[in-house]
Amino acid sequence: MSDNTMLAGKHVLLGLSGGIACYKSAELVRLLCKAGATVQVMMTAAAEQFITAVTLQALSGRPVITSQWDTREPNNMAHINLSRDADLLLIAPASADFIAKLAQGRADELLSLTALARPLARCPLLLAPAMNREMWSHPATQRNLAQVQADGARLLGPASGEQACGETGDGRMLEAAELFEELVAFFQPKLLAGRKVLISAGPTFEPIDPVRGLTNLSSGKMGFAIARAAQEAGAEVTLVAGPVHLPTPRHVKRIDVQTALQMYAVLLPLAQAQDVFVATAAVADWRPQQASGQKIKKNGTNIQPSFELTENPDILAAVAALPDKPYCVGFAAETEDLLKHAREKLVRKNLPLIVGNLGPATFGRDDNSLLLIDAEGQFELPHNDKLSLARLLISEIASRLEKK
Ligand code: CTP
Repeated sequence: MSDNTMLAGKHVLLGLSGGIACYKSAELVRLLCKAGATVQVMMTAAAEQFITAVTLQALSGRPVITSQWDTREPNNMAHINLSRDADLLLIAPASADFIAKLAQGRADELLSLTALARPLARCPLLLAPAMNREMWSHPATQRNLAQVQADGARLLGPASGEQACGETGDGRMLEAAELFEELVAFFQPKLLAGRKVLISAGPTFEPIDPVRGLTNLSSGKMGFAIARAAQEAGAEVTLVAGPVHLPTPRHVKRIDVQTALQMYAVLLPLAQAQDVFVATAAVADWRPQQASGQKIKKNGTNIQPSFELTENPDILAAVAALPDKPYCVGFAAETEDLLKHAREKLVRKNLPLIVGNLGPATFGRDDNSLLLIDAEGQFELPHNDKLSLARLLISEIASRLEKK
């Protein structure tokens, strides 16, 4: 799925209440429209003090509605018309004052009126709070937040950090890209709700001396995409990653390791409490038996250094041998005879499912194709970007869990 179809067919109702974070909402509109969504913007009078309707109209390609008395609506009922075909109502920024209004069910201007008049079952309400940290932590705000959540609203954020007022703390609105990622996730089917998923990703690095080591070409991208897809599907996700420079998907717990032994030590104790383990890591098969404590020097001689290698433990096989094992999914990256080698690993490691891919041409790329192999046979997930493949794989895993 390319970026410009990620939200194709989705209709987002975006309400802005007053706050400096309104500037971020302009960027959010751009991201949503670029991803194929239609966006109808509504603004309160306070929001119009921070950003103009012209900006948001230009970005959304639709007139912005600012008043419940807007005569452009044929029946003069903007608050009813707007929410009837919306897939969700996002209020970003949601100011402390506006959240207080929602908590009381007031409806004295367009945005609160629309929130109250929307069909509860069909048009969920998402709030991206934005306010000073003292306002955020005030008992009145916390009380109102508890109330709106009890009424079904979902909170996105807030973030913590530097605030426009110069103070630092909780209450910043999420960045546009973060809100965008939240909305994309919101629309994904919750196939793994309540499940725990553990993922290994990336290469490992086996030190030879303090500045050198053995590693491989794994980028970690597939594992990180699977972590994101599992999280979007409602799972609680832990990602154990070798040395890679990739951003952590939102709401995913990430543990960084360097060597195979460290990865083993972190994963094994976690594995038993999981529903699923997906091993995408390209774990180094061997490590230098004894890493040198100091940098190995040439010392002007022609004698080449030599070192003994010792085999690393097979993490996936160890997890698959646990008495209370999770559903284990292996990966097989091969340079030839994919099906033969992958099937051999499926049996050797005692796995219900293995995912084959051919390298090294695909290593580090953003797209790939995968071959799913289990006891019943094999089938291909055709060429696609890694996030789309990850979502398909997650739905395959979810349907197999259902049958277990
Ligand atoms: N794996 C693992 N621990 C290891 C080696 C591999 O957990 N020490 C996992 C990988 O994460 C992957 C699967 O086992 O899910 C297959 O890995 P791969 O490197 O393709 O297979 P190997 O068993 O190492 O066999 P070979 O290197 O001979 O192809």
